[in-house]
Parts: sequence; C-alpha cells; structure tokens
Amino acid sequence: GGAVLACSALKEKYRQVLLTHTSEVFWVYLSGSYELIHKRITGRKGHFMGAELLRSQFEALEVPGYGLHVDISDKPEEICNRIIFACMGKRTSVFGVFGLGVMGRSISLNIAERGFALSVYNRPDAGEEKVVRDFLDKNAWATRIQGFTNLKEFVDSLQRPRKILLMISAGPVIDSVLDSLIPLLEKGDILIDGGNSHYKDTARRAQRLTKQGLTFLGVGISGGEEGARRGPSIMPGGDPVAYGKVAGVLEAIAAKNKSGDTCCKYVGPEGAGHFIKMVHNGIEYVEMQLLAELYAVLRGQLSNDAMADILAEWNQGELSSYLLGITADILRKREGEGYLLDRILDSAGNKGTGSWSSKEALDLGMPGNMMSAAVFARYVSSFKEQRLRLSGGLSLAGRDLPLPDLDDLRDAYEFARLINHQQGFELMRMASVEYGWNLDLSAIASIWTSGCIIKSTLMESLHETFLKYGNLLEAPEIRSLLWRQESALALLLSHALQSRLALHAFSAAQHYWIDMTTKDLPANLIQAQRDYFGAHTYKRKDAPEGNSFHTQWGS
Ligand code: 6PG
Repeated sequence: GGAVLACSALKEKYRQVLLTHTSEVFWVYLSGSYELIHKRITGRKGHFMGAELLRSQFEALEVPGYGLHVDISDKPEEICNRIIFACMGKRTSVFGVFGLGVMGRSISLNIAERGFALSVYNRPDAGEEKVVRDFLDKNAWATRIQGFTNLKEFVDSLQRPRKILLMISAGPVIDSVLDSLIPLLEKGDILIDGGNSHYKDTARRAQRLTKQGLTFLGVGISGGEEGARRGPSIMPGGDPVAYGKVAGVLEAIAAKNKSGDTCCKYVGPEGAGHFIKMVHNGIEYVEMQLLAELYAVLRGQLSNDAMADILAEWNQGELSSYLLGITADILRKREGEGYLLDRILDSAGNKGTGSWSSKEALDLGMPGNMMSAAVFARYVSSFKEQRLRLSGGLSLAGRDLPLPDLDDLRDAYEFARLINHQQGFELMRMASVEYGWNLDLSAIASIWTSGCIIKSTLMESLHETFLKYGNLLEAPEIRSLLWRQESALALLLSHALQSRLALHAFSAAQHYWIDMTTKDLPANLIQAQRDYFGAHTYKRKDAPEGNSFHTQWGS
C-alpha cells in the first residue's frame, strides 16, 4: 500500500514528476550540515556512495519549502518517531466501512485485526452522535482504524480507487446513501453492499453506478455478529474485475473451513452474490423450521433438557450443524426457576429473504415447497391473537400418543434436510440457467462449510456431490438413503396427523420426494380440465413428443 523512497538530493523538477504520478506523497526533508554527514558517510563501510560524492549532492540540493523538516543531529529513534507520528496524522486507509451497527462494528474489527488500515463512518444522527467515538475508545488496540462522522472526510481518507463496504439495512436507505456518496466519489471507486439486499435491487444499483464510472458489488455475508467478527462466509457477486480489487480484504477476513479453504469466492455477475445469500436464507428458514417441528413433536412428552440431550447427541455425528447445536443450547437455557424458551412468545418474525426465495422458486417454476412451507409456518404463527381465540383453550398437542422411535425421528430429520438442500441448490441451478450466471454449485457448497448459519457436516459433503453429480438426487448413495428413510418420515407424519401437529416442512419434504419419484401423477386430469374449459390443449402418451391435441369435451 505504499513505499519509502530515499534520495540524496532529489531536484525539484523530479519531485514534481513524482507528484503527478502518485495520489499522495508525504515529504520528509532530513537536514544536516556537510561536516556531520561527511563524518557519518566516512564511518560507513562498503557502501557504493563514497564521501567524495557528498560535495556534488550539496551543490545540487534544492531545499524544499514544504514537507516535514527533521534535524538529523537527533538520535535515529527520535528521528523515526517524529516521522512516523507526522505520517500517521496524514495516513490513508485501504478500505472503508460505512455503518457501525452490530455487523459493521464486528466486520471492522475483523478487517483491522487482519492488518488492514481502515476508515469507518457512522452518520451522526440523533442518538448516534457518539457511536464512532465509543467504538474507537472501546477498541483502542485497533490503532489502524480511523473514525469519521463527516462523509467527505471519510471518503478523502481512503486510497484510490476507494473501496467502501456498506453495512446498512437493506431497502431504500441504500439508495439514499448512494445519493450522498456518489458526488464524493471518483471514477473507478468501488461500493460494496454487504447487507441482505434483494438481488434485483443490486443489479439495478450496479447499472446506476456503472453509468457514473463507478462499481457496485452485491456481496452476501452470513454468520451473524460472531461470524462477522471471527470470519463470516462471503458470497461476492458483480463485476469480476472490481471484485479482484477487493478480494484481498474479503478473502482475508472470511472464515476458513476444515480443509483450510477460504469461505469467500466470487460467485457470479450482476446480483448473483445477493441471490446466493437469499437462497442461503431460504435453506436457513427450512433448517430452523424442521428443528421447531421436532421440538413440537417432542415437547409434549419430554423435558427441555431431555430434548437438548437428544439434539446434542445427534450433533456429534453426520447430522451435526450449527443450527442443531444452538437449538440444544437454547433448550437448556434457564431463567430463574424455569426455561427461557418457555417464556418466549410463539410468534415468529422475518425480514423477507425467505419469502423472496419462495417467490423466486415460483417464478422459475421450481417446486421449492419446503421454503414456502417454512415461510407460511412463520406467518401463521404471527396470528397469535386469533389463534388464541380459535384454540378453544386447547394447549399443547401430541401428549397422548407414544412418541415415534428416536431412530425414526432421526432418519426423518436427515431425510428432510437432504430434500431441503436439494431444493435450495436446485433453485440456484435453475436461476443460473435462466440468468446465464454459470454458478458453480460445488464452490457455493464449499463457501457454506464454515462461517455461515447453515454450515453443517452435510454441507461439507456436498462440495464433492455437486462436483460429481451436479444434483443431489442424482447421487446414488443419497437416493438409496432417501428410499430407506422414507418410511421413517411416514411414521413421523402419521404420528403428527393423529396428534394434531402441523409439520409444514416435514410434510413438504415428503410431498416433494413422493412426487419426484412417482412415474404417473394425476396431472393428466389437470391437463384435461384445462383443455375442457379453456382449450389449452394437452399432449398424449401415445403420440410423438411435441404434438398438441384439443378435444370437444362437452356432449
Ligand atoms: C445470516 C443470517 C442473517 C439474518 C437473517 C435472518 O446468514 O447471518 O441469515 O442474514 O439472521 O436476516 O432473517 P429473518 O429475520 O428473516 O429470520
């Protein structure tokens, strides 16, 4: 990021040449008498510049009227300290972070810890005036961070081309931040959106910035606060050349997986990075919902600690995942005499990424029924008041029937997770074809092996699966596992039906699998109905492919 150039008596006209080719030069003039320097040069052994050359240097010397003038009669340590101190006041950063919310703070500390000089900015809005100052005070070790509340000073503190990571909430606020930033930027500067923006907004913003000679990269970041601080999973998308310029920082701060690979890899053009993060969240919604459904089945008959023990044991083997681990922790968490979980209102929130994934599946003609089931399960939970009224006082279901065998529960859970991952990756494969993104599913699985919310032992194996088969259901070992476990899922679902438990995601997994492995579906009737009332035509089993037929159905 910089260089020290030492010259004996650089002429002014050469100094001016240097200035026209470099964005920033910090001048230091070391001043000393001919006698002192001559004495030091004479004492220097084996150097190419002998003391006899000193006279000509003094004759050529044009003492600058600018820069830091340092008297060399001081001790070397003092000379260095003075220079460093003066330089620091004028230092520039290689990277900027805009927004010091929880994620912005954590990622800034991560960047600083990897040794990058960093500038951070937070808007001094009412109530947030002290955010930057408090952040710097609390992290005094991070001497390479400069803090700003003035946007122009923040932008000016960055080396060109400027690289600014926006860590702000997704939505229209991004556009208003762009409105205020763009006039301060110069050709070639790069803005990176690290939030959960919709991929179509990202593509639109990228086009807007391209027209101004700037670049906008949409980068999915997963891992929550802890991931951002210690190493998140990063899904960068957009212009590959611009990505090359920020890859050094992003790849350095990302998580490393068990093979030592960095969980950050360029995924594709336009909004591909945010698309991949959206699908990550779609899979995340289902993984969470499956665990909630298991909890619904077990809680009628087991204590929170007993449930935690089961999940913790599963978490030792091939079912292990970050979400399974934290769910066991959550179940055990006590508050006073009871458990915290029992006091949390059963009304789930969401910020939209799950529903975006489901809508995308609908638009692409991809049967992503597990994602939509997980989203609808959250939605129905949010009708708390009405549920309370309609429940007629009926409380927890599933108390009377004996629980399914734990091995069956385990198998059903493994089954449903496989279908969930099949659907998530299939959604990306279909998007890749539709949008011409050339997504590498195997590489995406690898990005998700560490740092993110859906990291798991299963994910670690998928890198290989996609490399070999390109689709989870095409892998013979996975297919035969699903055939074997199908009956365990059926047992769980029939238990749920009889116990009045709605297992949205488990049921969706079963529907998908049954239909995908059924030769003859009743869709022939749908086609006939469509043709009956709308002359939509149908295809025949006994006619060459491509031919369409219409029948006058009425008498
Ligand atoms: C992650 C998470 C993160 C966040 C989601 C939650 O990968 O770190 O997915 O992005 O937790 O936005 O989304 P909901 O609020 O919609 O559950």
